[in-house]
Amino acid sequence: MRHLMSPLDFSVDEIESMMDLAVKIKNDPEKYAHVCDGKKIATLFYEPSTRTRLSFETAMLNLGGKVIGFSSAASSSATKGESVADTIRVVGTFADIAAIRHPKEGAPLVASRVSPIPVINAGDGGHQHPTQTLTDLFTIRSLKGSIRDLTIGLCGDLKFGRTVHSLITALIRYPNIRFVLISPEELRLPSYIREDVLDRNHIEYREVTRLEEAIPDLDVLYMTRVQKERFFNEEDYVRMKDFYILDSEKMQLAKDDMYVLHPLPRVNEIAVEIDDDPRAAYFRQVRYGMFIREALIMTLLEVKGC
Ligand code: CP
Repeated sequence: MRHLMSPLDFSVDEIESMMDLAVKIKNDPEKYAHVCDGKKIATLFYEPSTRTRLSFETAMLNLGGKVIGFSSAASSSATKGESVADTIRVVGTFADIAAIRHPKEGAPLVASRVSPIPVINAGDGGHQHPTQTLTDLFTIRSLKGSIRDLTIGLCGDLKFGRTVHSLITALIRYPNIRFVLISPEELRLPSYIREDVLDRNHIEYREVTRLEEAIPDLDVLYMTRVQKERFFNEEDYVRMKDFYILDSEKMQLAKDDMYVLHPLPRVNEIAVEIDDDPRAAYFRQVRYGMFIREALIMTLLEVKGC
């Protein structure tokens, strides 16, 4: 039985196969509409979510399966002190696969170690968000044709943004990927990613503060919001929250084929005037996320047709 805790739990070839399957599902959804008949996914969300939870639930429904779960710790027996490990043992008697989001880093991993069913990390604290990474990789491959020879700009809260940490970890396995890390000094990439992932693997990158300086070189610009919920005090958040606002003026500096991605939710970091720019791909990205989650569910459940 396999789980998904980190994007590195699957090889590049396995992720390619998953993306190939996602393309087939996207092109012929009817063919896959009953492959999970009789199966259930449990979405155990101890932290708020719109996209990830609903994307998993829609993915399972699209495959013919059913959904159970909770959308906040407050509506679960976590409020009575039940551990994540006990919860997954219980839920494993009801469902065939589970997606867990938790504010504590490593909580889905703890669950996976005792789980009778495959567990997917749907985001753990400031650590990892591997299905967002699969979404991002699938989006980049779909829009750019392949994942190679790209300059990727990562902009905003690189310190607390778990999607950025997961995406960098995954992208270094592809050929000739360069990074431009765009953040204020206080929100720089943590050293465990910069040194242990980028430096150790001799990946080309530079750190800059001004988005205007970086944007002309980029093939993909990955914007992120400042992660309010991870700040220790409101004052620091307020000082940082509008540090970057991508607007039409800045987009004029970008290449015609540079795509803007964002894991969403957006706060102020992308002006709504950008939404109609053909290079704004963040809402298409959400849709790619649903198809790749369908492919992931099929893969983890070893459903025929993978
Ligand atoms: N991208 C993402 O994780 O969004 P949600 O928090 O809405 O799930």
